[in-house]
Amino acid sequence: MDKKIQFLKYKNGLFYVDNSSVDKLSRKFKTPFYCYSLSQIKLNLNNFKNCFNKIKPLICFSVKSNSNLEILKNLNREGCGADVVSIGELKIALKAGINPKKIVFSGVGKTEEELIFAIKKKILLINIESESEAKLINKISKKNSVTTSVGIRLNPNISSGTNKKISTGSSENKFGLTENNFLRLIKEFQNFKNLSLQGLSVHIGSQILRIEPFKKTLKILERVIRKSKIKFKYVDLGGGMGISYENKIKNFDLKKYNNLVEKFVAKKRCKIIFEPGRLIVGNAGILITKITYIKNTNKKNFVILDSGMNDLIRPALYNSKHLILPIKKNKKIIRKNIEFVGPCCESSDKFLTVKKYQKIKEKDFLLISDVGSYGMSLASNYCFRPRAAEILVNKSNIKLIRRRENLDKLI
Ligand code: LLP
Repeated sequence: MDKKIQFLKYKNGLFYVDNSSVDKLSRKFKTPFYCYSLSQIKLNLNNFKNCFNKIKPLICFSVKSNSNLEILKNLNREGCGADVVSIGELKIALKAGINPKKIVFSGVGKTEEELIFAIKKKILLINIESESEAKLINKISKKNSVTTSVGIRLNPNISSGTNKKISTGSSENKFGLTENNFLRLIKEFQNFKNLSLQGLSVHIGSQILRIEPFKKTLKILERVIRKSKIKFKYVDLGGGMGISYENKIKNFDLKKYNNLVEKFVAKKRCKIIFEPGRLIVGNAGILITKITYIKNTNKKNFVILDSGMNDLIRPALYNSKHLILPIKKNKKIIRKNIEFVGPCCESSDKFLTVKKYQKIKEKDFLLISDVGSYGMSLASNYCFRPRAAEILVNKSNIKLIRRRENLDKLI
């Protein structure tokens, strides 16, 4: 687990989220369920704010990483805006009370219905990802006699060094406009009488741990802005800052990033927007699960959990590692090949393999760590399994913030 975690940890052998032991929670709620620490979310956000204190960026929380309404409401109270990529995310961000003037909308495939809604809500920026989209936004705005504030997303064609599936800033990827197309589109803006070009946006990928890709991106942005001869009011640098899923991996160096961005702002005199998701909520959530069976074979010892790839797809989809921890520690170590798997009917429904673990038995509770981002938001009903409940712990207060889906209603 991340070294920056303060509010999800063991105290006297029991795992706690804020002031509540997971042991207590697991007796109260049916597993599997997600549980988040509000204090940890706030700590992450404050670390981010403090680090970028001098440039005071607009922080648009990336709703796709965690779209729970109660969490969004809390982030709104802390002054966050939202980065949305669908009408659904836009609606839930508005419902959470987020000011439209703090909402940015990205995505390569925004439909006419989505654009009409966003235009009417007068959000801060619609980040355009193609020439066709620019034409459509202009047409809708003209019809409604409004001027829409837009940004253009640049594809800087750099490698972010992260998993290919979540890399977005290379010319291989569908996102944004290439430098040439970007500059060409800007020239066309004189024909878009109902668009006001306010921003330049970029997002090069997610779970990036090295600073170099961001450094390269800033350099490219400087060059492209110079060539465009436009003074952009906003430069939206997207999200992508990674977290440490395993102890041995170093955290992303936010300070270094801040130094680079400060220099950039000194030259370009623009307002910076960030769209962090994982960095704000990733380490603040766990998935609590129960061991249904233990099945030993000559090769492996399968620990079969009651949570599956429908609850948390990251290991199956990206081979990502989430530590699985007992909610109560004991000192009896077993040295065996243990594979933690789910109940879904495919072999990719496995979470983690370890060579040693503490002694565990059927019906014990375990927790899967660092699942606050892209956990519940990627959950599905695969194998017709209802999606799990979500709980928010705020010091000693425990709140059910999303009910477990009801199977009868699903049917
Ligand atoms: N802005 C845009 C335009 C994005 O596409 C994303 C993430 C973000 C911001 C937030 O990125 P973050 O700060 O959370 O890295 N499902 C994958 C991650 C996909 C990220 C997609 N875009 C995973 O579980 O790792």
